[in-house]
Amino acid sequence: MTEPILQVRDLSVYYNKKKALNNVSMDFHPNEITALIGPSGSGKSTLLRAINRMSDLNPEVTLTGAISYNGHNIYSPRTDTVELRKEIGMVFQQPNPFPMSIYENVVYGLRIKGIKDKAILDQAVEESLRGASIWDEVKDRLHDSAVGLSGGQQQRVCVARVLATSPKIILLDEPTSALDPISAGKIEDTLYGLKDKYTMLLVTRSMQQASRISDKTGFFLGGDLIEFGETKQMFLNPKHKETEDYITGKFG
Ligand SMILES: Nc1ncnc2c1ncn2[C@@H]1O[C@H](COP(=O)(O)OP(=O)(O)O)[C@@H](O)[C@H]1O
Ligand SMILES: [Mg+2]
Repeated sequence: MTEPILQVRDLSVYYNKKKALNNVSMDFHPNEITALIGPSGSGKSTLLRAINRMSDLNPEVTLTGAISYNGHNIYSPRTDTVELRKEIGMVFQQPNPFPMSIYENVVYGLRIKGIKDKAILDQAVEESLRGASIWDEVKDRLHDSAVGLSGGQQQRVCVARVLATSPKIILLDEPTSALDPISAGKIEDTLYGLKDKYTMLLVTRSMQQASRISDKTGFFLGGDLIEFGETKQMFLNPKHKETEDYITGKFG
């Protein structure tokens, strides 16, 4: 068994007094896809935002517990959150390309780092767009606006933008739920294809998606992690009644 790349220990998250996540502990191993499932409001997005410290941006949020990335406490005062968010990238439900060209979207993070060498940028664009399975569709119009692409293409450009910053972990918050089924399938295949290189945490409402591509699944309910384990095991033989009810569509 490999060492976990990410460990969440006894994590509780509050919005003011309201507890949104209750004493959650999870380990994530390299090159695993973990699906996070559960009804709306169960704390899935709150967990993702704690992991890349996006929750710092909300002054109402307080946390207790610990999160470590490669053995380092990400809440240490020495953590550079800009660097952290490159190592732990995020893709959102609504595709959010910047209003600029496809090319500039992908190299955005590299430009901020001060990289100017055209050969390096060109190479990063091609590699990232290939990684996001969209190179062939856009290679002849890299300088067109990303906003003019279809929703599914925009989402793959957003995946490419994250890949260009060389993350180790990718957090995906319902990345396909705003897309039509064909575009959703392309994203799903893309994510599966990235498994060899990245560790992914995927919030999804689709039980089919979770069972098709994830290695592990965590089921959340009311801020509690009810059940966490191998996806196959959980879908075939859930240990808790609530898990069974949720995955068979009895609520949610
Ligand atoms: N910015 C916020 N301010 C106050 N409460 C919030 C905020 N975001 C989420 N919550 C609350 O925290 C709980 C968990 O929400 P969330 O993490 O968004 O759940 P999920 O992603 O599973 O739908 C919910 O009760 C939600 O209302
Ligand atoms: Mg959410």
